[in-house]
Amino acid sequence: NKEILKDSFGRKHSYLRISLTERCNLRCSYCMPLEGVTLLPKSHLMNAEEVFQIAKIFVNEGVDKIRLTGGEPLVRKDFPEILRKLSSLPAKLTMTTNGVTVDRHFDLLKECGMQTINLSLDTLQKERFKEITFRDQFDKVHENMFKLLELGFKVKINVVLMKGVNDDEIIDFIEFTKNYPFVVRFIEFMPFEGNKWKRDQTVSLNEILERLNSFYPKNDILRIPDAPNDTAKNYKIKGYSGEFGIISTVTNPFCDSCNRIRLTANGQLKNCLFSQSESDLLTPFRNGEEILPIIQKAVGKKFAMRGGLSKPDDFNNPEMHHNRSMIRIGG
Ligand code: GTP
Ligand code: 5AD
Ligand code: SF4
Repeated sequence: NKEILKDSFGRKHSYLRISLTERCNLRCSYCMPLEGVTLLPKSHLMNAEEVFQIAKIFVNEGVDKIRLTGGEPLVRKDFPEILRKLSSLPAKLTMTTNGVTVDRHFDLLKECGMQTINLSLDTLQKERFKEITFRDQFDKVHENMFKLLELGFKVKINVVLMKGVNDDEIIDFIEFTKNYPFVVRFIEFMPFEGNKWKRDQTVSLNEILERLNSFYPKNDILRIPDAPNDTAKNYKIKGYSGEFGIISTVTNPFCDSCNRIRLTANGQLKNCLFSQSESDLLTPFRNGEEILPIIQKAVGKKFAMRGGLSKPDDFNNPEMHHNRSMIRIGG
């Protein structure tokens, strides 16, 4: 029955994002509150087998792509076990990582058939990296990013743009695609609990395009057609090896074609990144209950856009928006 993952707007959910942990080895302020988050005890998180069994239920209902997220997914000690189990399912496996320890897993990632890796890196400047992440790991991430390319992975670099923090690096990042086939994606800063989001810190699609237009000759900026369910509007500079994309969730949402559902590390289904309610799958799963009806009901309740917030400015009102912090959702 392939209707279980269809919502009331006819959107079919074939892309499951599974957060493996709420922990991270970096401390980016846009993702977590400065004071940190209260970590759930390990017993509240899905273990490797539970991740596998629950993922399998989704795959049986039509999920064909699984992305592992976190926190930082690679800080889970049983990451290799989880990945090996998931690789036996007929779904494309991908991951979003900060790249700090990815070099410990190159062989495993190859063995499990992973082809694309999304790597979060918000600056090309070593000192600034430390300011944004509160950790001195720039060199490691930089080195790993190139190693991934050499090993034949497709590497998408996620850059969360924040006004006055790193928005002066837009052109530097694009120039970075001149000689290397990276796909750089500029992501609009999004509001989550504890990240002190303000609308005026976001850099919109139009603003990015304006800056491009004043730097590159108009005919050199090529728009790449959208792939189905893509989050980004993609471009490349004529003659460059790589590409770049713009992900503007707040000002330019792609909710109409949304095919994503999320599972938090403690086994709660979120039908939208911004959903203000969650459905517990782990407790009933542990009790041996059927979870398909719960999944169907949760998907059926999905709002048309942004978890029910129709205007971006509604995010400025804390009364109108209750969500986890990003580190506890998984992006
Ligand atoms: P691909 O599968 O390669 O297209 O990756 P992706 O862009 O879906 O995932 P990634 O984890 O790299 O996320 C990039 C940015 O897009 C992050 O800031 C995410 O939070 C955001 N994003 C991913 N999925 C969604 C979604 O369903 N809704 C919204 N609003 N933003 C999303
Ligand atoms: N706004 C936009 N993107 C964010 N990410 C984390 N927090 C935010 C935020 N507040 C990005 C990470 C990662 C992806 C999964 O989400 O940089 O690349
Ligand atoms: Fe899908 Fe919600 Fe993201 Fe819109 S905001 S694309 S509905 S997850």
